[in-house]
Amino acid sequence: MEKKNIDWSNLGFGYMQTDMRYVSTFSDGAWDEGGLTDKATIEMSECACVLQYAQTCFEGMKAYTTADGKIVCFRPDLNAERMADSCRQMKMPVFPEEKFVEAVIETVRANAAWVPPYGSGASLYLRPFMFGIDSVIGVKPANVYQFRIFATPVGPYFKGGIKPLTLRISDLDRAAPRGTGHIKAGLNYAMSLYNIVDAHEQGYDENLYVDSATRTFIEETGGANIIFIKGNTLITPKSDTILPSITRRSIVQVAKDYLGMEVEERPVRLDELGEFEEAGLCGTAAVISPIGKIVDHGKELTYAGMGEKIRKLYDTLTGIQMGSVKAPEGWIQVIE
Ligand code: PLP
Ligand code: COI
Repeated sequence: MEKKNIDWSNLGFGYMQTDMRYVSTFSDGAWDEGGLTDKATIEMSECACVLQYAQTCFEGMKAYTTADGKIVCFRPDLNAERMADSCRQMKMPVFPEEKFVEAVIETVRANAAWVPPYGSGASLYLRPFMFGIDSVIGVKPANVYQFRIFATPVGPYFKGGIKPLTLRISDLDRAAPRGTGHIKAGLNYAMSLYNIVDAHEQGYDENLYVDSATRTFIEETGGANIIFIKGNTLITPKSDTILPSITRRSIVQVAKDYLGMEVEERPVRLDELGEFEEAGLCGTAAVISPIGKIVDHGKELTYAGMGEKIRKLYDTLTGIQMGSVKAPEGWIQVIE
């Protein structure tokens, strides 16, 4: 198979239309057979539930080329599980988890020419998503849904690649207690748009949210969880209102089992920020992006950027994802 002629090493995080995508429709209480299509556009009623009431959720995951030329995906079963959780909360039908993984494999296989080569620093980003497509004018869930997966080759999420990020403590909130912060609902991202544009205009890379109930604990940013390092300990916020990041859960295991680090998953107070030596954002898109500075209303807290521990975590995690470090059982899905 011949790869597409793309300048892989200079890709940013953007959408590029690839050859095929997966589509399945839910109607009359059941999912259809589902399959691949080359049609990248969607036609729907002006009154579709997704357009009026934002009934949509999504996932984000990546396919990589390994050093020995295989195409692999990282823990797709966990994306299937999390999407099922999102769907239940949004009163959407669950796309069966096993079928989700098969659909991911089919989509990657059909777009193999778009999977960036090993060593390019790029990967094939997969975006599974679901939305209510039939007309709904009273506030209630839709009856008809589409589940889709598209693929697009991407480079680093943050401009400038792996340069230390500057975050600000946000004055606005992302997630309410007992709300939807723990699922991947489109509405969580819609409500962060004003704030991310403002952060960029003020010279920050991202907003770091605190808990909206007490404003005393660190949560996450608009698109990634956060990790901190103090000595040989990795500290990461535990909260019911953050997204359970698959990258963060994997990093916790890597820190314990591969690097012999201590791990604390617990509420992290805003007033502890000055005690940490290194910090990073973690997620599928963010991978592990080192943090250089967090600004808390004029008070600047500085971190080592790609310090020793963040570097080791980054190298081990990406080594596992790209096949140069032995992965724990079940983490790597090879796409034949
Ligand atoms: N937090 C938010 C709000 C996100 O959008 C993401 C991205 O998916 C993450 C965290 C990281 O999650 P994951 O590591 O599963 O990609
Ligand atoms: C991901 O990391 O996959 C996400 O969905 C985050 C988004 C901000 C791009």
